[in-house]
Amino acid sequence: MTRMQSVGGRQGEPATSAPAGVASQRCTNADCGARYAIDRVLISCPSCGELLDVAYDRPREERMDWGRFAARSATRGPRHAAGGVATTAALDFSGVWRFRDLLPFCEDAAKIVTIGEGRTNLQRADGLARAMGLGLTDSGGLYLQYEGFNPSGSFKDNGMAAAFTHARMVGATRVACASTGNTSAALAVYGALTGMKCFVFIGDGKIAYGKLAQALDHGATTLQVAGDFDACLARIRHIAEKTPEAGVYLMNSVNPFRLEGQKTIMCRVLEGLDWNVPDWIVVPGGNLGNCSAFGKAFAEMRALGLVDRVPRLAVIQAEGSSTLERIYNDMGVRWEGAGAGELLAGRYDRARVKAEYERMDAANERAHTVATAIEINRPVNLSKALRALSVMDGVVRKVSDAEIVEHKALVGRWGFGCEPASGASVAGAAMLRREGVIKPTDTVVCILTGHALKDPDVTVAYHTGMDMRSVGPGAGAATPRGRISNPPIKVADDLDAILRAMGV
Ligand code: F0G
Repeated sequence: MTRMQSVGGRQGEPATSAPAGVASQRCTNADCGARYAIDRVLISCPSCGELLDVAYDRPREERMDWGRFAARSATRGPRHAAGGVATTAALDFSGVWRFRDLLPFCEDAAKIVTIGEGRTNLQRADGLARAMGLGLTDSGGLYLQYEGFNPSGSFKDNGMAAAFTHARMVGATRVACASTGNTSAALAVYGALTGMKCFVFIGDGKIAYGKLAQALDHGATTLQVAGDFDACLARIRHIAEKTPEAGVYLMNSVNPFRLEGQKTIMCRVLEGLDWNVPDWIVVPGGNLGNCSAFGKAFAEMRALGLVDRVPRLAVIQAEGSSTLERIYNDMGVRWEGAGAGELLAGRYDRARVKAEYERMDAANERAHTVATAIEINRPVNLSKALRALSVMDGVVRKVSDAEIVEHKALVGRWGFGCEPASGASVAGAAMLRREGVIKPTDTVVCILTGHALKDPDVTVAYHTGMDMRSVGPGAGAATPRGRISNPPIKVADDLDAILRAMGV
């Protein structure tokens, strides 16, 4: 096993030249372009501070087709204890590792971590599209990619499978994240599986209860920090980067290996469409890891000849947490790619982004939305998101909390259930359709990033009209105001009354 390098890399040390083998870590900043060995533990580029990519040096002429992947999805699944060395069947069963040829950073298959993540599916949602009045023709259609089917209940498991594999490669024993719920639940599941010690930093009062329950149940050491998600992430990032003696490996999406796993969500969308490319991918944007991963996935799949065109990307933020929306739409900041062959390196106007962050700090602006998963002011993957928007000819929109909650309820009624951030992607699709940006003939895939059982208090509040955070059981009646609110009916323990209430 490779000895664990000091966390955060050896600051100030010159970048290594490209290591032997296909994979390395590469700076996304075209003016830097530093490369580092794949088994170093780095959070950002030690030379310039920008984000890193996992990059693969492939022969320019290398081509792939979907045949090899399609065959693997027929696997019945592993029949051996989880956590040990994964068999080929276990890898094929995983919706992440089935696509391992697209994330070949781990040469030693014995180190690969899997619990059968990514067995998620794509649902054509005609009823929902009709209820939303989307007016899509049969040649197009609305699809929901439901990542809530993952073992811990969100898309995060895709990323954790990859990042824990890297953690194993470097011999990490302690892992940590900041979280509003889903990251911590996923971290705790994979920590329990691999025997790594887990630390979860959560903002005081800022975590969904069910998710907290998961972290506690799986044995993570959970620290409730007096502050919000941004504060927690800054804190844990500092510990991982600047206090190497703590030996903490960071599992938030600033870790580029997380994004490698999350790329496979796009592979599964294509698989669900018989390898056809949709017109739109619509995804909620918080720390912007998912949209970044999707852009990288399509850039790479196009280079390998797996797709001949790229869908458009819509990143949907909440009004109270819309930093990317402001930077992209109001300030017009764009990614400038370094040209063909250097698809993944580029530039953006860092000074303007920095000035905007300073303005936000001076005004003491804090993110605020009912969708806690995207209640993030300083998205760590901002630059990679700009790159994804460039690769996928993307758009960014913001939607109100009322729209988020309404569309979440619509998904629950006519599609899979989902948590509030996922409702934002559907609300965003409706907005883009109203604007005419999405055409009636388009095929639209909304990513539902998490299970309905995150933030259930939001759901119950929508259906009952009661603010579940401020009222206890037995509090007075309230009037629900949602378009499809479905409140429980109070009834006496009396047969006639019950039958009347049942409407039969
Ligand atoms: N959707 C869900 C369900 C999430 O849990 C998150 C992030 C996002 C979307 C945002 O995704 O960062 O890729 O844009 N949840 C973090 C957490 C904050 O702690 O679980 P992104």
